[in-house]
Amino acid sequence: MSIHGPWMALRSMSSDQSVKNQKLKAGTFKRILQFALPYRRYLYIFIGTVVVDAILVVATPLILRSLVDDGVVPGRGDVVTKLAMVVAALAIADAGFSMLGRWFSSRIGEGLIYDLRSQVFEHVQKQSIAFFTRTQTGSLISRINSDVIGAQQAFTSTLSGVVSNSLTLLLVAFAMFTLSWQITLVSLIILPIFIVPTKWIGKKLAAYTRRSFELNAEMSSTMTERFNVSGALLVSLYGDRVVESGNFRSKARRVADMGIKIAMLNRVFFIAMTSVAAIATAFAYGIGGHLAIKNEITIGTLLAITALLARLYGPLTALSNVRVDIMSALVSFERVFEVLDLQPMVKDPINAVKISSAIPTIEFKEVSFTYPKATEISLASLESTAKPEVIESGEVLRSVSFKCEPGTFTAIVGPSGAGKSTISGLLPRLYDVTAGSILINGTDIRETSILDLRALIGIVTQDSHMLHESIGDNLRYARSDATGDEIWQACDSAQIGGFIRSLPNGLDTVVGERGHRLSGGEKQRLAIARLLLKAPKIVILDEATAHLDSENEALVQEALKVALVGRTSIVIAHRLSTIAHADQILVLEQGRIVEAGRHEDLVAKGGLYFELYQRQSLGFTE
Ligand SMILES: Nc1ncnc2c1ncn2[C@@H]1O[C@H](COP(=O)(O)OP(=O)(O)O)[C@@H](O)[C@H]1O
Ligand SMILES: [Mg+2]
Repeated sequence: MSIHGPWMALRSMSSDQSVKNQKLKAGTFKRILQFALPYRRYLYIFIGTVVVDAILVVATPLILRSLVDDGVVPGRGDVVTKLAMVVAALAIADAGFSMLGRWFSSRIGEGLIYDLRSQVFEHVQKQSIAFFTRTQTGSLISRINSDVIGAQQAFTSTLSGVVSNSLTLLLVAFAMFTLSWQITLVSLIILPIFIVPTKWIGKKLAAYTRRSFELNAEMSSTMTERFNVSGALLVSLYGDRVVESGNFRSKARRVADMGIKIAMLNRVFFIAMTSVAAIATAFAYGIGGHLAIKNEITIGTLLAITALLARLYGPLTALSNVRVDIMSALVSFERVFEVLDLQPMVKDPINAVKISSAIPTIEFKEVSFTYPKATEISLASLESTAKPEVIESGEVLRSVSFKCEPGTFTAIVGPSGAGKSTISGLLPRLYDVTAGSILINGTDIRETSILDLRALIGIVTQDSHMLHESIGDNLRYARSDATGDEIWQACDSAQIGGFIRSLPNGLDTVVGERGHRLSGGEKQRLAIARLLLKAPKIVILDEATAHLDSENEALVQEALKVALVGRTSIVIAHRLSTIAHADQILVLEQGRIVEAGRHEDLVAKGGLYFELYQRQSLGFTE
């Protein structure tokens, strides 16, 4: 921290190249003020404390001047004592004001961070799944972490810096000129010697800092990629630890080298500042001493002016870099606004209608679907690839129509890539159809609220996600008010109750990140228990048993039988044996329904279904 001292503000600049030379959008400033509005009272008080602080900085040398000229020189002890006490009192008052200022600035700063973070989080949650498929989680998180902090600095460090430094500079310069314009002029002559290298160092440091951000990001992405369970597995099975360590070392080395460069530049800057100030002080004493001998100025004036001089350089350097500070804070705001402005692709209707509560009828009417292009769903700056892709997926579903009667079991089969999972994603509106419509109980799903729609539907996919929490909490995620009895009932129905009872901590057992401490079958049965707790009216199973061995699959199939009773279900099947009793089977190929009917009819027909069925009966899996 200490070595980066005056350049901390530069650190707020993001690693991202997009910050460089970015032009601000019109209206950004106005919008920032909107965020500051709730804090305007605090802001006034805070600026008030900054002003008092600046005045005290100038007042002290002036009082000391009086102490020497009116006390020491004429030999008046009472004046000396009195003024010394005033100086002490001012020092205490200054400390108090400084505390007060910090209290208010942190209220403003932290409050702003809190507001921005909550808003970004809430907004990102509203984004469609498509957004998350494209976005790099790391970049998104850095918007919520670092950019929000950078934005907040505009209000605390930068604002207080600008106000207090310009005020101090003005007051100090004015006081110096009034005391002795000759000394002031002479000591300011060497100022350019100082400003020029400062500018140069500032630019260089900005470049180095940006580079060090990049290097740090590279280093941490190496870690995040390798230190999650799948990455660690990959390294263990295929990788070479020595090569991995060497690779990491070289990245860490570059970070270290850059750190040394930055530290050295900072040191050069400090040396420049202190020596220039020291030389200026020498000048001031040299000229001022002669003037004092000639009685043109008093000794007190000489002391005061040299004391003031020492307080001139700090604000000067700070202000010479203020443009960079303000720009980077504003850019951070813009980057946060950019996320806030992103419109979710799937939107709630303005006047939502309720779907009738009867056991649902699901109807797909001439549904066609093309996955959206990258540019439609995310911010290029949140993706790693430099140029956004423009290729479309092509039509994934073509004019798909079918109807599921209330409480029936519909199976969808077909080769991999046919569009089966796409159908299961369209029903809960993870995406909206490109053409046609989907109706539940006669209501277009786009006319009801997304929340109501999703409450109706329960989905189990081939790898279910578990949060890094206890089994109980994971289950309650589907229904927070579930009672203990209900939870156990769901677990027993899902054939996982026995397993949970066998665990030493039972429902309180924490399942690892991404549920890795559970076997595939256990995890799937837990996911089914979660689905049962949610008790949705529509159940979609997307190859829920695809990853399981036959023993586990039998258990899960048993669990599923319970899950489907009294519900309208769509089951995307991997093994055809599990769907022979379906009310209807849809055979999908290249986005089209090529056959539909019951098992016996389709077998009798001798088409694609029959072909798939025969292949599986012979022991092949597709
Ligand atoms: N998020 C996506 N963006 C673009 N194309 C996708 C996306 N997801 C799937 N696809 C494409 O859509 C087609 C159908 O995929 P999917 O519905 O997952 O098939 P299935 O479940 O039948 O194996 C595939 O060609 C796949 O490459
Ligand atoms: Mg699929």
